[in-house]
Amino acid sequence: MKIIVANWKMNHAFEEADSWLKVFSKLVLDNKNKFAEIESVVCPPVFMIDYIDSELMDNGFRKLDSIVKSQNRNIESFTEEELSEIILKERPIKIGGQDCHFEDSGSFTGDISASSLKKIGCEYVILGHSERREGHFETNEIIAKKVTAALKKNITPIICVGESKETRDQSKHLEFVYKQIMSSVPQDIKFDKLIIAYEPIWSIGTGVTPSSEQIKEMAKLTKKIFAEKLDGVANQYFMLYGGSVTSQNSAEILKIENVDGLLVGKASLDAEEFVRICLS
Ligand code: PGA
Repeated sequence: MKIIVANWKMNHAFEEADSWLKVFSKLVLDNKNKFAEIESVVCPPVFMIDYIDSELMDNGFRKLDSIVKSQNRNIESFTEEELSEIILKERPIKIGGQDCHFEDSGSFTGDISASSLKKIGCEYVILGHSERREGHFETNEIIAKKVTAALKKNITPIICVGESKETRDQSKHLEFVYKQIMSSVPQDIKFDKLIIAYEPIWSIGTGVTPSSEQIKEMAKLTKKIFAEKLDGVANQYFMLYGGSVTSQNSAEILKIENVDGLLVGKASLDAEEFVRICLS
C-alpha cells in the first residue's frame, strides 16, 4: 500500500476546499479500484478540519444506513467506536493535522492537542516538518514528545526529517538524518504504522528534486534504521519522499526502491494534479 499525503500548509479556505473535495471525490469514484490500493490523506489548515470532516461524512452515513437496513438493527445498538469506524472507513480520503502540541490541554496559546485533532476527525498528523523545526524552533526531543502524544490518542504521526543544502554540501546528510530519525522516534511506545517522510529542505517548494540515486540512498538508510534500530517498534514501516513532487516526477519517485509514498505540498492544492500523483 502506498501512502500519498496532501499538505495544504496555510492554504485553502471554505470555497477552495469545497471545490477541491468535489473534484477529488468524483475522481476517486472514477478510479475506485486504483484508490483502493492507496491510503490518501489530506492535511488542511486546522480551522478547516472539522468542516472537511463533515463534508466527507456522506458516504459513511449512506453505508451506515445500508448496514442498519440489511442487518435490521437499531442505530442505538451500535457502540460509538463501531459508528466512527464505519463512518471513517468510507471517507474517500483520510484527514490529518499539520502539527499538534505534546500536552493534552493547558495554557498553550495558538496550539492544538492531539485529542482535539482526534475529536475533529484526524487519523494522521504531520510532525517535525522543517517549516515547524525552523520557524517554530522545534527540536527532535519536542517532536518525539508530540509523536508520543499523537500515538496515545490513536493518531498516526507522519514524522518529517531532512537536511539543509549546507549539510548535504558537506556530505553530512546521512548522519544528520540518522540522528533526526533516532531522536524523533520514541522507542518506548508501540506504533501501528511508523511513517518517516524524508524531505530535504533544499527541495521543499524550490522545484528542485534530488536525483533518484540520492532518494534511493536515503530510502535505503531509513529502511536499514527500521530493520536494525527500530525493529519491533512498529507493526508496519513506511518511508515517504517529499519536496517538489508533481505529477511529472511522482511515478519515477514511487518506482525507487524502498519508497512507500509521497508527501506533497504545492502540487496537492490542485485536486486534479493531486489525483494524477495518487494514480501514478
Ligand atoms: P512542496 O512541499 O511539495 O511544495 O515542495 C512539500 C512539503 O513541504 O511537505
